[in-house]
Amino acid sequence: MDIMNIPEHIMKRIQELPMVSDVAVRLMDIISTEKHSLQQVIDVIEHDVYLTTRLLRIANSAAFARGQSISTIQRAVVNLGEDLIMGIAVGACSGDVFQKELKGYDGSTGALWRHSLLTAFAAKKISELVVKNPPNSSLAYTAGLLHDIGMAALSEFLEQGSKKLNGVGNDEGGKSYVDVEQELTGTDHTELGYEIAKNWQLPEELLYPIRYHHEPSKAPAEHKEIVYCVHLGDILARCTGFGVGNENLSMHLDSEYVDYFNLNRDHLDMLIVDIQDEFERVRESILGPMENEVVDHKTILIVDDSKTARLVIKRCLEIAGWQDEYFLEAENGIEAIEFLGNHPVDIIFTDLNMPRMGGEQLIKLVKSKPEFQNIPIVAISSLNNAAKTEELKLLGVKTVLGKPVTPMDIVNSIKGM
Ligand SMILES: [Fe+2]
Ligand SMILES: [Fe+2]
Repeated sequence: MDIMNIPEHIMKRIQELPMVSDVAVRLMDIISTEKHSLQQVIDVIEHDVYLTTRLLRIANSAAFARGQSISTIQRAVVNLGEDLIMGIAVGACSGDVFQKELKGYDGSTGALWRHSLLTAFAAKKISELVVKNPPNSSLAYTAGLLHDIGMAALSEFLEQGSKKLNGVGNDEGGKSYVDVEQELTGTDHTELGYEIAKNWQLPEELLYPIRYHHEPSKAPAEHKEIVYCVHLGDILARCTGFGVGNENLSMHLDSEYVDYFNLNRDHLDMLIVDIQDEFERVRESILGPMENEVVDHKTILIVDDSKTARLVIKRCLEIAGWQDEYFLEAENGIEAIEFLGNHPVDIIFTDLNMPRMGGEQLIKLVKSKPEFQNIPIVAISSLNNAAKTEELKLLGVKTVLGKPVTPMDIVNSIKGM
């Protein structure tokens, strides 16, 4: 482990941080060993009345009960699954560490918890795609859950400088997020997280992903697999629009990840959809209803020759609150024009490069016809090019989004339409 010089006043503060409960630590220990029995998990949970009550309540919620009443912890464990139980135990037994408002990061109440859960789902899924020496998937899940724990402690020391963090990541090759934290406080959330995890006496394997998730190539060789799972999981969680406040867009993907996983670009897009689905399924049961963006129902025409790309846009829109029956999908400009002739359309999302008729020609055609010219168009481009964006705006395009699109991009692009 590299040498860390954490300022004394911050180090003192983390010692005062509420401890994660013994129950959660014991569960982590049990679940992260390859061979363990269901009974071992149940024995630990049953000693904690608060956790038992909470698990039974969640197991009886609409998402899990499937019409049955669940009255024993054994049934609850089987229905919820060990990983989710781990998540609930950590969330329920760590005071307000995950729930507090992170002012230093412009993060709202609960933002760290949502981001941590999404990263956990993603890290677990990714751990199953590791080519050599795959890490225990429950360990990857737990590491995802805890990777940003240092933020909970560092936030209060960043409040004065949080504006400085807002701009990080906008200029390619500039300072990293962790560099700016170091500049402002003398330490960063990965160093602090590592110290907190040690303080909580968490299993050793969990310390490395916490310490190196922003710089996975620096992790010791024997821990790189799990560190890369969390690194990639963290980035995918942000692609769903749930980072922590201003951390959202600031992290660069370490290209070395390709050495560890059997993954391509389409896989990554599908993983984003998968983890969102899984998160949506459990969100309400464990987090309660979330203040969702309320949007009027409109008819949206999605034009893209890739089925996966259309699906990703559709899922992003659904997460933003739009309903299924209002989507129309076309594979190219010609099909889009046919749709426009037969259906009233409120918004068009279009890719640019498509066979038969591309996006630019479609945009020109739409804008030249009085009956269509007022339909707002969002263009999605894989070229991140300011001149092209300007050109498209001159043609009358409302917004130009870069690929890969995220639900947050989509929500922002449809605001006020
Ligand atoms: Fe982080
Ligand atoms: Fe993160």
